[in-house]
Amino acid sequence: MDEFKVPATSANLGPGYDTIGMALNLFNKFQVKKRKDNLIKIKVIDKSNNNQILELNPKNDLISIAYQSYFKFIKQKAAGVEIIETMETPLARGLGSSASAIIGGLTAAAIVSGKLIAEKDFIKLAVALEKHPDNVVPALVGGLTINYNCNEDYSYYKINLSQNLSFVLVVPDFELKTKELRAVLPKKINYPDAIFNLSRTALFTAAFINNEFHLLKKAMEDKIHQPYRKRLIEEFDQVIDKAYAWGAYGAALSGAGPTIIAVADKNNEKIAEEMQKPFKAKNIKSSSFILKGCNYNLYEYLKGRQ
Ligand code: HSE
Repeated sequence: MDEFKVPATSANLGPGYDTIGMALNLFNKFQVKKRKDNLIKIKVIDKSNNNQILELNPKNDLISIAYQSYFKFIKQKAAGVEIIETMETPLARGLGSSASAIIGGLTAAAIVSGKLIAEKDFIKLAVALEKHPDNVVPALVGGLTINYNCNEDYSYYKINLSQNLSFVLVVPDFELKTKELRAVLPKKINYPDAIFNLSRTALFTAAFINNEFHLLKKAMEDKIHQPYRKRLIEEFDQVIDKAYAWGAYGAALSGAGPTIIAVADKNNEKIAEEMQKPFKAKNIKSSSFILKGCNYNLYEYLKGRQ
């Protein structure tokens, strides 16, 4: 039996739509056991949902699809396997649960096959399934990653996350699928909005490289996805206001939402409590996490096993 962990992720962080993502110290744990037959058996234990056990259909489950795509890439028949994922990240809330399933399936295949493919190919397989790199890349290499495509491939620049910072995540108790949240976006954006986001994204990167987090209030503004998505999360503006009122450096939608993330280094519990109030006022249950950034590199771990 082999074991490994994949971190939760938060993507976009305001202006970095499909570009910026970070790994957080909340983990989905995977146990992997090779089977003598050719069956692929996947079991998921959902810790955020009363340890509910999901027996997944290998035909349409992302862990299994990723596992099989890795074997296809190395031109081998997929070996039989049993994979158990113990999931700490809530499903479909904007914390990278699908990225984690994809990276989990690919990592399981690398372990079972004993063949580690190049990092750029690993990322390419992951992005082919997730469609955007901003969750899968930090899930694989940790830290805050600036992701960019180079022709057919994807590359990234990793910034290690300061452990002085906390990330307060408020997770309302309703699911919003990324697919629906991409469908609400306009097909085109205009020059002023593009310029607005370019300036914020550059500022965001500078803030994290130089640990100048006071820049984040401006740097986490966005005009290309949040204004459209917040129509599905009515409490969004009030939750962001609460975070700032209690001293957060920055706040934004986590991924496509509905989770909202705040960056802070003080009043963390109070910020979490206050950010939940607008949901509570509408009788919407929510939960919160206070997390640190995760700089752990799973791909380096796989290299070390070779
Ligand atoms: N960049 C993606 C989006 C992240 O905003 O749709 C989804 O988790």
